[in-house]
Amino acid sequence: LVRAFSTSLGRHSPIKTVAIIGSGLMGSGIAQVAAANGHTVTVVDQTDEIINKATAAIKKSLGRVVKKKFPDDPKAQQTYISDVMSHLTLQTDAKAAVKSADLVIEAIVENLEIKRKLFASLDKAAPPNTIFVSNTSSIPIRDIATATNRLDRFGGLHFFNPVPVMKLVEIIRLPETTDETFTALESFGKALGKKTVQCKDTPGFIVNRLLVPYMLEAVRLVERGDATPQDIDVAMKLGAGYPMGPFELLDYVGLDTTKFIVDGWHQRDPDNPLYRPSEILNKLVAENKLGIKTGQGFYSYN
Ligand code: CAA
Ligand code: NAD
Repeated sequence: LVRAFSTSLGRHSPIKTVAIIGSGLMGSGIAQVAAANGHTVTVVDQTDEIINKATAAIKKSLGRVVKKKFPDDPKAQQTYISDVMSHLTLQTDAKAAVKSADLVIEAIVENLEIKRKLFASLDKAAPPNTIFVSNTSSIPIRDIATATNRLDRFGGLHFFNPVPVMKLVEIIRLPETTDETFTALESFGKALGKKTVQCKDTPGFIVNRLLVPYMLEAVRLVERGDATPQDIDVAMKLGAGYPMGPFELLDYVGLDTTKFIVDGWHQRDPDNPLYRPSEILNKLVAENKLGIKTGQGFYSYN
């Protein structure tokens, strides 16, 4: 019944108040879209400096949204941005942020121990009915969820970069995730204007299980000297219709995030050739060439 009624932008979504931990690429995008769809959103990060950067990133992204939504109407553009921002609070206290949240979305660094530590502390601070999700790209949700005592109210909610543009959310369900939790996550996804798909808790879920080996295979072409990143990008855009080539996408996603994904999978499944670490990727990350976010990756953005 809830499914039948939840199409009209989540009027029936039980999730109204959202705490998002991590205000990077993903956290700020999720926060923007949740606030734009009427949720009360608190975003948490480690320092005021990071928070200020995230606020600027959200405003910049909203600027792109309003140009399309209200062309030639600067007043409507400004009103919309102010309205969305009035639904958003950015701060540094995670425990305070989760106290009144219906949903906590974790979007911090892709590291199991750090995520577990965070969730263990949030589990004590949040009310018992609060649902917890991780936006992890590659870590099994169960490995994160067992840091808490709420496996029935735990799941994966995997968004895509850039969140304001990409229409998909993958919902990951544990065997313990209740129907009520799952339905709440599904209607939240719809309330954000996203299409949801469901996947079991398997490495990479659907999209990354296909996308990450593809991007790594592109890097191996370069490592073997078979082709240049530039030619591979042109080839995949014009020959396969992808919006970005694999190297553009690697820089866009962040080379550190991709390395975390590959290293994690390699550790779990060392004999799988698809997850073999890449020398070029390791070298670029060691040099802090992480892609667009640091101004240099496979390409230069300065
Ligand atoms: N915020 C708001 N709007 C944005 C935006 C942002 N951050 N980024 C782009 N847009 C809007 C633009 O304003 C533009 O709007 P109009 O059509 O009204 O002009 C539209 O999106 C297209 O943007 P651009 O014209 O700048 O550039 P583009 O046509 O090349 O599109 C793109 C940009 C949408 C990012 C496109 O290149 C694309 O789809 N790339 C692939 C992205 C992808 O594969 N993402 C998944 C990564 S994997 C992942 O996320 C999972 C993981 O766990 C790692
Ligand atoms: P990012 O590096 O842009 O941002 C991570 C943020 O988390 C940083 O601002 C950092 O300061 C903050 N942080 C780290 N530890 C924290 C803590 N204990 N408390 C509060 N804040 C903390 O990373 P991102 O690209 O936004 O990725 C975040 C998560 O989303 C990762 O799990 C990643 O795998 C996943 N993801 C990434 C993408 C992508 O394309 N980059 C896509 C989907 C999912």
